[in-house]
Amino acid sequence: MHNQLLVFAGSTRQQSFNRRLAQVTAAMAREAGAQVTLLELSDFDIPMYNADLEAHGTPADVLRLKQILWEHPAWIICAPEYNGSYTALLKNTIDWASSPVKGDPDWQDGTRPFRGKVAGMLSASPGALGGLRSQSHLAPLLINLECWLAPQAFALGHAGSAFDDHGALVQPAHRDRVRAVVDQVLWAAGRLHPAAV
Ligand SMILES: Cc1cc2nc3c(=O)[nH]c(=O)nc-3n(C[C@H](O)[C@H](O)[C@H](O)COP(=O)(O)O)c2cc1C
Repeated sequence: MHNQLLVFAGSTRQQSFNRRLAQVTAAMAREAGAQVTLLELSDFDIPMYNADLEAHGTPADVLRLKQILWEHPAWIICAPEYNGSYTALLKNTIDWASSPVKGDPDWQDGTRPFRGKVAGMLSASPGALGGLRSQSHLAPLLINLECWLAPQAFALGHAGSAFDDHGALVQPAHRDRVRAVVDQVLWAAGRLHPAAV
């Protein structure tokens, strides 16, 4: 059976708050009984998108990523905020993953890894707004790729003091907000993809 939930962060920074939030999210979803894949974008060797480069062949890790995205009916993305939007890393990753592979029966439809996915959004930032504006830019991109967005979302502000030394969220209210996103994404995926979850 395919894993139910894919969780990843749009940062590869070692001490990333969004990677920590992704770890918390994955643990919560496992506690809720879901099968979870916690994906690290640093495990993928994906260059900056360039159509000339692509014309020589889609990188193997892009194909690997497409397959993983496609296999999971539900996703939660932890999106850092750079300059009021989401990161170039996240954009570049999604651009490659959504680019059609000419002549490939699996991936000539660029939207295939995205279509019908239930997607939840989280963000974390040292700032007061918690990276909320990254979500407001990410949302239309995901909808454009035919994802179903969960109405529940959460932006974790003041992230520098939000985690303890073990990476756990200190405040129960924060844990509750993350749990609400996890629960809603799993709930919706169970209805949209009953055979897969
Ligand atoms: C180029 C750049 C722009 C940033 N712009 C914002 C911003 O607009 N809003 C915000 O809350 N934080 C901003 N930050 C701070 C990030 O939220 C902070 O670096 C955060 O730790 C990044 O996420 P990460 O910890 O998951 O790597 C920016 C950081 C960088 C490097």
